[in-house]
Amino acid sequence: MPTIANRPYKWLAEYYDQLFTFHLPCFEAARQRVLGDLLPRLDSACDLACGTGTTALLLARRGIKMYGVDLSAVMCRLARLKAHRAGLPLRVIRADMRNFRLPAPVGLVLCEFDALNHVMRKADLRRVAGAVAGALEPGGYFYFDVNNRRAFETIWPGCWWIEKPGVALVMHGGYDRKRDKGWSDVEWFLRDGKRWRRHHERIEQVAWTGAEVRRTLRDAGFDRVQAWDATPFFKNDPKISPGCRTFYLARKRA
Ligand SMILES: C[S@@+](CC[C@H](N)C(=O)[O-])C[C@H]1O[C@@H](n2cnc3c(N)ncnc32)[C@H](O)[C@@H]1O
Repeated sequence: MPTIANRPYKWLAEYYDQLFTFHLPCFEAARQRVLGDLLPRLDSACDLACGTGTTALLLARRGIKMYGVDLSAVMCRLARLKAHRAGLPLRVIRADMRNFRLPAPVGLVLCEFDALNHVMRKADLRRVAGAVAGALEPGGYFYFDVNNRRAFETIWPGCWWIEKPGVALVMHGGYDRKRDKGWSDVEWFLRDGKRWRRHHERIEQVAWTGAEVRRTLRDAGFDRVQAWDATPFFKNDPKISPGCRTFYLARKRA
C-alpha cells in the first residue's frame, strides 16, 4: 500500500503523548528564552501544527486566548479531549498550515518541534508564511523552529527506538540529496492481546537555508527576523550539534 508521507500522522498521533515527552524541557527552555518577555503581554495566540495541544494548553493556562491548528484528525481529536479534560478553552481547527485561517487575528503564531519542515515542498514555506502573516495582528510574532539540512545528514541516518508498555517504535532515516529531503521510516509494534501488530509510517521533511527562511519571511511582510541555534536548549541531547536546529522569531510589519 503506498504511504503518503506525513498525511496520516495516525499512529504517531495516537501514541504521541506516551512516547514523545523527552523534548518538552528543551522546547520549554527555548520558549522561555525567546518568548519570555512577550508572553506576559499577549492576549491571543495560535499553536500551528499543535499536535495534541500540549503547548496550546500551557499558554491557555496563562490566560491567553488560544487556537490550535493541525492537519491530522487524530491530533485534533486528542487536543480537544485534553482541553476538555483540563477544563481549558482551546479552539481546535483542522486545517493545513499552508492555507489556514483564524476567526480573528492573534498576537503570536507558534509552530514548534520542526512542524514547519513537514510541508511537502520547499516552495510551501512561502504559502505558510503568507497564511501566518494573514493570521497575525500588525506587529504580531511568528515563532518556530526548523530542522536544518545538517540534522538530516548527521542525525536522521541513525536508528532511534523507544519502548513503553504495549508499544515500541523504531525510526531510521536519512537525507535524500537529490530531493533535498530528510526521511524517516517509523516501524510500529503494537501489542494486541498475545500478538504484536506491525505498522509503518513515513515522515518526510524539507530543509531551507537560513537565507531562504529570512527572504521568504521578508517577502511575506515580516520586517524583523531573529534566529537562535538550538544547541544551548538541548544540553542533554548530544545528537544536537550546532547548525542542526534553529529557532526563529519574526515580527509582522506594524
Ligand atoms: C512533530 S509534530 C509537532 C506537534 C507539536 N507542535 C509539538 O510541539 O508537539 C508535527 C505536527 O505537524 C502536523 N502537520 C503536518 N503537516 C501539517 C500541515 N500541512 N498542516 C498542519 N499541520 C501539519 C502533524 O499532524 C503533527 O501534529
